Amino acid sequence: MLVVYYSSATENTKKFVEKLGFPAQRIPMRKSEPELVVDEPYVLVCPTYGGGASISHQNTRPVPGQVIRFLNNEHNRSLIRAVISGGNSNFGTDFGKAGDVISQKCGVPYVYRYELLGTEEDVRLVRGGLTDNAESLGLVPETAS
Ligand SMILES: Cc1cc2nc3c(=O)[nH]c(=O)nc-3n(C[C@H](O)[C@H](O)[C@H](O)COP(=O)(O)O)c2cc1C
Repeated sequence: MLVVYYSSATENTKKFVEKLGFPAQRIPMRKSEPELVVDEPYVLVCPTYGGGASISHQNTRPVPGQVIRFLNNEHNRSLIRAVISGGNSNFGTDFGKAGDVISQKCGVPYVYRYELLGTEEDVRLVRGGLTDNAESLGLVPETAS
């Protein structure tokens, strides 16, 4: 079970992913860092950065640029199996919108939406959900099956 995630300098997503306790790889924060290339199926955990685009109409890109870059690599894109998105419910209808966009563009299920660093309940549900559904989601590496 591999988790791939992006997290900005505030590191809310990083803290959430660490609590899950699965092997994890981080998409680099800066364009200048070497790009991440993965070699097994993964669930992507991605924070939303649209700035409430539906209301403000000012930032229409809820998915961080570094995540777009990672997914533009066809090999990386072929291995995504599910998406989880973080956000802030203050953004109303745009809460966790990055997950909707990634799910639609990559054709994978949007399996969970959580706020900021996630609660203990979020961690429990995501851990259980991913573990119980690893096979049906295709999250088991071929070598292990
Ligand atoms: C500039 C900015 C725009 C944001 N836009 C949204 C948004 O449109 N929807 C949402 O749910 N959360 C939004 N958020 C909240 C972040 O997704 C949330 O704080 C997240 O936990 C950040 O994760 P990170 O610390 O790992 O980068 C925004 C945060 C910032 C700073």
